[in-house]
Amino acid sequence: MQRRSQMLRQDGRSIAFVPTMGFLHEGHLSLMREGRQLADILVVSIFVNPTQFAPGEDFATYPRDMEKDRLLTEKVPVDILFTPDEQAIYADGCQTFVTPQALAKRMCGLSRPIFFQGVATVVAKLFHIVNPHTAVFGEKDFQQLTIIRRMVKDLNFDVNIVGAATVREPDGLAMSSRNAYLKPEQRPAALSLSQSLREAQAQVAAGLIQAEQIVAGARARIGAHPETAIDYIVIVDPETLKEVAVIDRPARMAMAVGVGTTRLIDNMPLVP
Ligand code: PAF
Repeated sequence: MQRRSQMLRQDGRSIAFVPTMGFLHEGHLSLMREGRQLADILVVSIFVNPTQFAPGEDFATYPRDMEKDRLLTEKVPVDILFTPDEQAIYADGCQTFVTPQALAKRMCGLSRPIFFQGVATVVAKLFHIVNPHTAVFGEKDFQQLTIIRRMVKDLNFDVNIVGAATVREPDGLAMSSRNAYLKPEQRPAALSLSQSLREAQAQVAAGLIQAEQIVAGARARIGAHPETAIDYIVIVDPETLKEVAVIDRPARMAMAVGVGTTRLIDNMPLVP
């Protein structure tokens, strides 16, 4: 992969890259279509990265379907589908990690303390291997996108990071490979995330600017479903991810909620 990228670059071709963990859905495909527009060559990786899963998380059962994924990428079309195995990426384990600091100690980082170190490390490795000019990440993982932008700045990667809007099911549920775990009867609970975010957007547009009140409204709406367990609901500055008390400039409302055994995340911008 490294050698192919080098040859493409020598030929003057630009490279866009979309890293994924596979089990592709419309959200991933929209990132790929965006990447397609941004460069001559589109590279997509599929690698379920073990270092971003803690013991007891769903690494072993994370949904995988390489054949279906391959067919979906052919339709985009993707020029290079890079599917390394674990041995190729972590041949001798890993002694050197990229550890994001304060940005990784909030929100998802509180309940998943090694997650962002695993993500930053594998993305750094993939950037070195694929050597892209541009890489596209989904806004659905807003904290991940923020951390990767910061890593690129802090470690002087010469990669342009593009954030792409979240793709939703017609009923509003943010697309995620983990939606495959949801049972039909859990759907109303799962929908309460996007519904409460939309309600917050409407409240802010109507002039409510107290973050505490907006978060309380969302907690009540989601908590009304007995199968939900709220991990966090926050309204944060989009760059520092620090909580804001008053929404007097654009902010981001983000949440992680367990629905049965499935952990869902979602976020939307709040614009006063
Ligand atoms: O968002 C994901 O699917 C993963 O965290 C990523 C960026 C591919 C790193 O493993």
